[in-house]
Amino acid sequence: MLVTGGAGFIGSNFLLRMAPRYPKVLFVNLDSLTYAGNLMNLAPVEKAENYFFVHGDISDRNIVRNLFREYAFSTIVHFAAESHVDRSVQSPLSFVETNVLGTATLLEEARAAWNPDEFETGRYRFHHVSTDEVYGSLGPEGLFSETTPYDPRSPYSASKASADHFARAWGQTYGLPVVVSNCSNNYGPRQFPEKLVPLVIVRAMKENEIPIYGKGENIRDWLFVADHCEALETILLSGADGETYGVGGETCRTNLELVHFVLDRVDRALNRPEGASRALVSLVKDRPGHDYRYAMDTSKVRRELGWRPRHDLLQGIDATIAWYLENEEWLKAVLDESWRRWYNEQYVART
Ligand code: NAD
Ligand code: DAU
Repeated sequence: MLVTGGAGFIGSNFLLRMAPRYPKVLFVNLDSLTYAGNLMNLAPVEKAENYFFVHGDISDRNIVRNLFREYAFSTIVHFAAESHVDRSVQSPLSFVETNVLGTATLLEEARAAWNPDEFETGRYRFHHVSTDEVYGSLGPEGLFSETTPYDPRSPYSASKASADHFARAWGQTYGLPVVVSNCSNNYGPRQFPEKLVPLVIVRAMKENEIPIYGKGENIRDWLFVADHCEALETILLSGADGETYGVGGETCRTNLELVHFVLDRVDRALNRPEGASRALVSLVKDRPGHDYRYAMDTSKVRRELGWRPRHDLLQGIDATIAWYLENEEWLKAVLDESWRRWYNEQYVART
């Protein structure tokens, strides 16, 4: 199995789950180690016989082609992406390069490597991991579903929407066995602390101000990362080629509600007076083009595949806070970019 972006947040959680569960599958992790890629995430599987890391860019056709030749992958789970909306506002072109061109490169190299006579036999699978943001911004009512028309509004979501279209186009045009999953906001261990949940935890730990965009009224649907990884495993095992699956936490909160909830749990974990950290919240200038609300209808994946989120917000947030409190070294390293770069370089030089 080729896993792209396996050194990032969701990809590493996926590999840590899957490599021990499937010892007969060789997991090859192709990652270019951007600021978001961190090989420390994979320390528990680093020495496993069925795990192998390759330092490279998904847009590099030669690397991808040579990997297909060497390993004869039958499955691709494609996580690699530029994933942060605020960064896409600052510098959109890297999102086009990785999310659009990189995805098209993988699709084309899979097509070149795989035998079209076996496209319908269940031998191959290209799973493209995508986001609910491709559907745009909901008003106060309603849910996104697999049939909601695309309406991406940020450079990030436009690049993911484009990648989704390419994935489906390779499915329609060439018969490539493609599956797309569109998931809501994830949180959990190993998430880079630029995203809301780890940002709040880390800044609260240090008693730093916590910036909330606009009035904090925007709504997101929160899913614990282990539940997303379980959904991906379920879809790989039981999902049908050519299908799209919406995955979500069914746990919608305004940003202010979520942040207060997380802060209260941090206070509890650190034995601070109840509600003390709420004083750190500061309303700041809004994100440009800020989508108002996301909410995913998960009835298809529930009904057809029997998946549902197992963790509620309390369990997920407490587990996440505990992980950040117990992993100070990790935190120091990701916040000190030069240290992380050094670690990654040492690892790449060793392998
Ligand atoms: P992340 O930013 O934590 O990790 C991305 C990984 O991809 C990093 O390891 C990075 O080094 C690697 N990468 C980036 N560009 C690359 C390139 N050109 N070649 C090879 N590797 C490259 O992202 P994440 O939050 O783990 O998200 C993973 C996937 O899931 C993305 O496709 C994202 O769009 C999607 N997704 C994320 C969420 C979420 O809430 N985080 C929700 C739904 C879907
Ligand atoms: O919906 C799935 C998407 O969720 C994924 O596809 C993206 O990769 C992932 O980054 C996430 O996108 P969001 O923009 O929703 O996540 P983020 O954590 O950046 O922000 C969550 C909400 O919190 C959003 O409304 C913006 C707000 N926010 C964010 C930050 C970082 C703040 O108010 N303050 C902040 O400092």
